[in-house]
Amino acid sequence: MTIKSNIPIISEWDIVAARQAGREAAKKMNFGTVDQARITTAISELARNIFLYAMPGNIIVEEIHENNKYGLKITAADQGPGIENIKLALEDGYTTSGGLGAGVPGVKRLMDEFSIDSEVGRGTVVVAVKWL
Ligand SMILES: Nc1ncnc2c1ncn2[C@@H]1O[C@H](COP(=O)(O)OP(=O)(O)O)[C@@H](O)[C@H]1O
Ligand SMILES: [Mg+2]
Repeated sequence: MTIKSNIPIISEWDIVAARQAGREAAKKMNFGTVDQARITTAISELARNIFLYAMPGNIIVEEIHENNKYGLKITAADQGPGIENIKLALEDGYTTSGGLGAGVPGVKRLMDEFSIDSEVGRGTVVVAVKWL
């Protein structure tokens, strides 16, 4: 059966639930422990950003097949305030909350594919894929 789970982020505990769903999916797909850690870290950062800046939102974890590739796709979608300057948000150390500003650039580094689609006043969708 194809793996797919959708975790609504409506409280801080849901960050843990999203992380666990990611770890389970990565294990089932036979990712190694290092990639499992990359995937769960990426999910944590994206879920935490929804929690901090844009609740409510959803984290979707799913198995994908493209050409001959097999991968795990994370979609973090919210209807929050959006990100005004995506280029800035991708820079290390950029934060509007006194955080570390390492979340978004970290996710980009940890995963194989990464995209952000955001519109001020409408929300943000981040998609990240790790190929097996
Ligand atoms: N889902 C989101 N909705 C709105 N703004 C966001 C979202 N995710 C990230 N941001 C913005 O991008 C900035 C950088 O995010 P990040 O790299 O995770 O660093 P940090 O969370 O430590 O500030 C945040 O401070 C916030 O302004
Ligand atoms: Mg963050």
